[in-house]
Amino acid sequence: MSQFNQVINVETANSARQKEVTMSDSVLVAYATRYGSTQAVAEAVAATLRECGLAVELQHVRKVRTLAGYSAVVLGAPLYMFRWHKDARRFLSRHREALTKRSVAVFALGPITTGDEKEFQGSRAQLDKELAKFPWLTLVALEIFGGKFDPAKLRFPYKLFMRQVPAIDLRDWTAIRAWTSNLAVKLQAALA
Ligand SMILES: Cc1cc2nc3c(=O)[nH]c(=O)nc-3n(C[C@H](O)[C@H](O)[C@H](O)COP(=O)(O)O)c2cc1C
Repeated sequence: MSQFNQVINVETANSARQKEVTMSDSVLVAYATRYGSTQAVAEAVAATLRECGLAVELQHVRKVRTLAGYSAVVLGAPLYMFRWHKDARRFLSRHREALTKRSVAVFALGPITTGDEKEFQGSRAQLDKELAKFPWLTLVALEIFGGKFDPAKLRFPYKLFMRQVPAIDLRDWTAIRAWTSNLAVKLQAALA
C-alpha cells in the first residue's frame, strides 16, 4: 500500500468515527400533526436546540424507521378529543425498547379557548392520562403548549359542530424557546 493510500485510509476512518460520534449524539425531534401547528412548534424546538449547540434532526413521526442514530428524542403531538395524536402513541409503542435507553422529552399542543391556567391543567390531565398507558416511559421534560385553531381548516365531522368557534393562536413562542433551552441543558448534561 502506498503512503498516499494509507493517508486516505486513516482520513476515511477518522471521518467515519467522527460521523459515528456526531450521529449517536444527535437529537431527534419527531412530531405528529393534523393541521400543521405542532409541526411549526417542532421546528422552533429543533432550531432552539441547534442554537444551544446540539445536532438535531427533525422528522414527521411516521417517517422515523429507527432511533439507532440518536441519543435523545423530543416527541411533540397535539391533543384531539381528549386523546394524544395516534401517530405519537404508535411511535411510543413501536420504539419502546429504544426509548427506554434514551433521554426522552414530550410536548403536546392543546389549549385553544381561554388559555388560562384551568384550561392548561385540563389539557395536562388529558396528556397525563394518555402517557399513563406507557408506564415504562421515563421523561426528562414534559410540557403543554397553547395550540392553534382555525375553523376554516376543519374537516368533516368537526366542521359540522365547531365552525362557529373563533380562530385563535395560543402558541407562546417565548415559552416554547425557554422550555427548549432548559431541555438543551439537560440533554447536554446527559451527553457529557
Ligand atoms: C376537533 C378538535 C378537537 C380538539 N380536542 C382537544 C382536546 O381534547 N384537548 C386539547 O387540549 N386540545 C384539543 N384540541 C386543540 C388542538 O390540540 C390544537 O388545535 C392543536 O394546535 C392542533 O395541532 P395541529 O395543528 O398540529 O393538528 C382540539 C382541536 C380540534 C380542532
